[in-house]
Amino acid sequence: MTQKIDSLILSVPAVSPNISIEEVGEYFLKDEFKALLSIPVVEAGKPVGVVSRYQMMNIFIKLYGRELHGRKPVSRIMNVHPVTVSSDQSMEEASRYITRNIGFPITEDFIIVDDGGAYTGVGVVLDLLKAMEHQLVKHGKELSVAYNELKSSQAQLIQSEKMASLGQMVAGVAHEINTPLGYVRNNVELFRENQRQLSGLLGAHGLLLDALHAEDPDDELIMERLAQIKKWHRLDGQETETLFDDTFFGIDQIAELVASLKNFSRVDQAMADNISINECLDTTLKIAHNTLKQKVTVVRDYGSLPAIRCMPSKLNQVFLNLVTNSAQAIDENGKLLIKTFTKDSFLFVVVEDDGRGIPEDVLPQIFDPFYTTKPVGQGTGLGLAISHQIVEEHGGAIRVSSRVGVGTRFVIRLPLDGAPAQHTLVAGG
Ligand SMILES: Nc1ncnc2c1ncn2[C@@H]1O[C@H](COP(=O)(O)OP(=O)(O)OP(=O)(O)O)[C@@H](O)[C@H]1O
Ligand SMILES: [Mg+2]
Repeated sequence: MTQKIDSLILSVPAVSPNISIEEVGEYFLKDEFKALLSIPVVEAGKPVGVVSRYQMMNIFIKLYGRELHGRKPVSRIMNVHPVTVSSDQSMEEASRYITRNIGFPITEDFIIVDDGGAYTGVGVVLDLLKAMEHQLVKHGKELSVAYNELKSSQAQLIQSEKMASLGQMVAGVAHEINTPLGYVRNNVELFRENQRQLSGLLGAHGLLLDALHAEDPDDELIMERLAQIKKWHRLDGQETETLFDDTFFGIDQIAELVASLKNFSRVDQAMADNISINECLDTTLKIAHNTLKQKVTVVRDYGSLPAIRCMPSKLNQVFLNLVTNSAQAIDENGKLLIKTFTKDSFLFVVVEDDGRGIPEDVLPQIFDPFYTTKPVGQGTGLGLAISHQIVEEHGGAIRVSSRVGVGTRFVIRLPLDGAPAQHTLVAGG
């Protein structure tokens, strides 16, 4: 929708090259030329020059200027190279051409011709400036609309990347929960079996009591019932105690996993005070346990960190992505080091693996959105792009160093005095 230069055409009459300078002087005084700096000169329908008010003034203010030059044809003084643009040019094209070719100070208007080169009118530089300014304002508005749209689609990307990684992790955690759930269930089966025996025993005790309390106790019956009680006496008190311990341990494990899921995915994206980054890392490792346990030995080297102000669920997302990337870079029996410490006014989190490493020529691209070396369906290539953005929102930085065949180290630096107060929250929900 670019505007054409023809919207600026003023269809003023032109003069012929033979007309006298004196007559042109009269023209300049007419109403229809009042707004113009110059008058076009046209011959056989085509522009051949332009004569400006400024030139006229130069002649008329000289002593005897009018008498000496007034009767000469205007062709003697006109500028034979007027700035000419074609009416089908866009405003931008035309204005570029005009600014390059017009003389300064500006003493002339520009001439507009049709596609056959025939004179159609003139345009005033000031009008062009106004029109351009108008377009700039409009473009500015369009730009800001586009920017806002981009921002919200970025938020959606973050959200969907989060959902994807969460989906994966939830599957892993469900699997983790299954193990304790399995043996808790087994133990409960055993309790039910014990319970049956206990009821049998109580029943036999009742019968024995009846026999004992009879008016005329029958020794034989008493002996028989005692024997029955012995039969039920296979319950082992110690074993039952262990069963209870195991069951509670299992239930605690389940509760812990559920708590880390809740911590991890806290839907509120809000800034929170007093967050322990070491605890965030533990939560993340618990969530990622299923991905790691087969092939990765995790070494935690946590320093003592003060609690900071941050968005924990977002930082968890960053940590999970780094840990997952490391796990994916390790083929078998790898090591993952998670180290935290403080230095000056910063807190550092190091995530280091001894996996495949990243080739030097790839390294500059890994933070680009959609850059991935993983097969279709395994990686979206958004993990690091989003991690980078989240760390920046926290006023921090993320750096990487890597050597092929040796391993990769990511270092996150966060300010100890917390994220900047006026953080720009991109992600919603
Ligand atoms: N620890 C690492 N070791 C080796 N390569 C890595 C490591 N971390 C990242 N990379 C490389 O950087 C690329 C980009 O990582 P990023 O996390 O942005 O996307 P992804 O893991 O491919 O996909 P997604 O995170 O969306 O599932 C990866 O495809 C991989 O090639
Ligand atoms: Mg990733």
